[in-house]
Amino acid sequence: MKIPIKELVNSVSEGVSFPRIAVRILKLFEDDSLSAYQLAKAISLDPVLAAYILKISNSAFYGFKTKVKSLSDAIALIGFEEVRKIVVMVSMKNAFSASDEFDKILWEHSLAVAVAASEFNFKLKITGDGAAYLMGLLHDIGKVVFKKNEELNYVKILKKAYNENVPAKSLEEAEYGYSHADVGAYLLETWNFDQEIIDAVGFHHVNFVALKKDFLKAAALVSLADYFVNMMGIGKREPVKDLGLINESCAAKFLQYRNDNPVEILNSIHMKFTELKKAFES
Ligand SMILES: [Fe+2]
Ligand SMILES: [Fe+2]
Repeated sequence: MKIPIKELVNSVSEGVSFPRIAVRILKLFEDDSLSAYQLAKAISLDPVLAAYILKISNSAFYGFKTKVKSLSDAIALIGFEEVRKIVVMVSMKNAFSASDEFDKILWEHSLAVAVAASEFNFKLKITGDGAAYLMGLLHDIGKVVFKKNEELNYVKILKKAYNENVPAKSLEEAEYGYSHADVGAYLLETWNFDQEIIDAVGFHHVNFVALKKDFLKAAALVSLADYFVNMMGIGKREPVKDLGLINESCAAKFLQYRNDNPVEILNSIHMKFTELKKAFES
């Protein structure tokens, strides 16, 4: 079945939305004079979000020795940037159903790609840490949109991609005429996200080496993180044994990234991802 992207996004906009409170909090961060007090006040309007910030601040992900008891403690200890990441994670988590098998796979994959994008960005310095995280978390949001429109029977594509290890993108293009990357970019445009994030999501499956455009760096960062997380088997049926393959990826070549000891970054991503996942489950 083929429907225009605009129609598809409109048909599911209720189910795939950033809660209004998250959008308001993200807006607050644009103001350089934002105080910890103002931030705590805005967050406390949403008790679920406030509870998550406390829970994640107290998780092994941060490893604080003393218990973080209040929202203002949490903000002071982990800082504005980390609070911003948690706001985005909690908002994103709502788009995935906890009881659906593929939603669970997609959520975990998105979370791992966010962690990986932040790790690779630390080395490559392509964008801000928060932006890298956001791009990683949102890169496959188009898949959630496809899935929410039940008439499209997207689960069939997810199953085929998962079981036969074929790229979802080519299956989607054959079936609908566009891919989850296109849908994601369109959705983020309607949410008024920064162009860098829209492009990173929209171009995360292109051939960077052939295109050679500067603005593709953020997209290549997401692609590198995505490739590595898939190699780790998070979102895939099985992990890949030869981690050295990361150096052969199109994104690594485009970014001139080489890593002869990928186990180190793998362990770091794995540890952070596991702690975050746990914090969301408990
Ligand atoms: Fe993707
Ligand atoms: Fe992905």
